[in-house]
Amino acid sequence: MGYGLKMSLALSAVVIAYLLMYSGTKFDPADVQDKKVLITGASSGIGKQMACHFAKMGANLVLTARRENLLKEVIEKCKKLSPNPTASHAYIVADMKELEKTKEVIKFSVDSLKGLDILVLNHARIPKMFDMWFGSQQNLTDLATDMDINFRAYVHLASHALPHLLKSKGRIAFVSSVAEKIPIPGVAVYTASKHAMQGFFGVLRQEMVMRNTGVSITSCMVAGTGTEQVMENLQESEGETAMDFHLADPTVVALEIVQATVARQYEVYTSSDILTSILVFLGKISPELADQLTMKAFFG
Ligand SMILES: *[C@@H]1O[C@H](CO)[C@@H](O)[C@H](O)[C@H]1NC(C)=O
Repeated sequence: MGYGLKMSLALSAVVIAYLLMYSGTKFDPADVQDKKVLITGASSGIGKQMACHFAKMGANLVLTARRENLLKEVIEKCKKLSPNPTASHAYIVADMKELEKTKEVIKFSVDSLKGLDILVLNHARIPKMFDMWFGSQQNLTDLATDMDINFRAYVHLASHALPHLLKSKGRIAFVSSVAEKIPIPGVAVYTASKHAMQGFFGVLRQEMVMRNTGVSITSCMVAGTGTEQVMENLQESEGETAMDFHLADPTVVALEIVQATVARQYEVYTSSDILTSILVFLGKISPELADQLTMKAFFG
């Protein structure tokens, strides 16, 4: 057998294995009925939309975020959307930079839901766009807070939730970013926090399998998405041209995450503009070329 033929046989085998892996992960909305779900960062953006999707499918919910007035509104919305008369919808106010609060959030959730099936780690401090790193004292101070919110809180929440997820053979979803696959100028610490969570949960996922726990972990690779916060940041830095960025619809992205999590998918790339998809693909083949194109795309 020639080398070329062997190579293409090997490649076909990989492609078929990949297709088999992913065709096995079917989403069934009936799986969500009566599930006990905690979502962080649920007052706006993708978190809020995930809460609505879960509510519509009849889940029991606990939502957490900093802003109580917004949380209350989301809860009201969930109550209206839920087809399940016995479903419960509760919230707890928490700022994820206070790591000691994470224990309380999990305790409240488990008490209120009487267990926990799905933990959706979604909250983040989204940086202002195109803010470069100068290594100033301010930058270093922000580094500590941002890593607490965007990374360490994820580990703390997952750790406190784990005993309950082991009982329910539950699911964890963590919202990462394509910034984990390709560096994007102006968001150094945010990008670093996504790498950190990918590393941590990548290992935890292996250990869940090795310990035979039945707990699944889904990484969610989110690209530019038009959430309230992102649009606000963009308008601040870009003015009218903010509309030129082809951002994904948060409702669509949220549904993609919910489906992948419920189907226990290994990872999901949510809706993305074509440029980002190309850059992510290119990043695997030639990181240097992907870098050059990314810098061009962001700074013309
Ligand atoms: C870093 O600090 C400088 C000076 O304080 C500031 O102008 C810049 O916006 C900061 N960068 C980030 C990423 O916060």
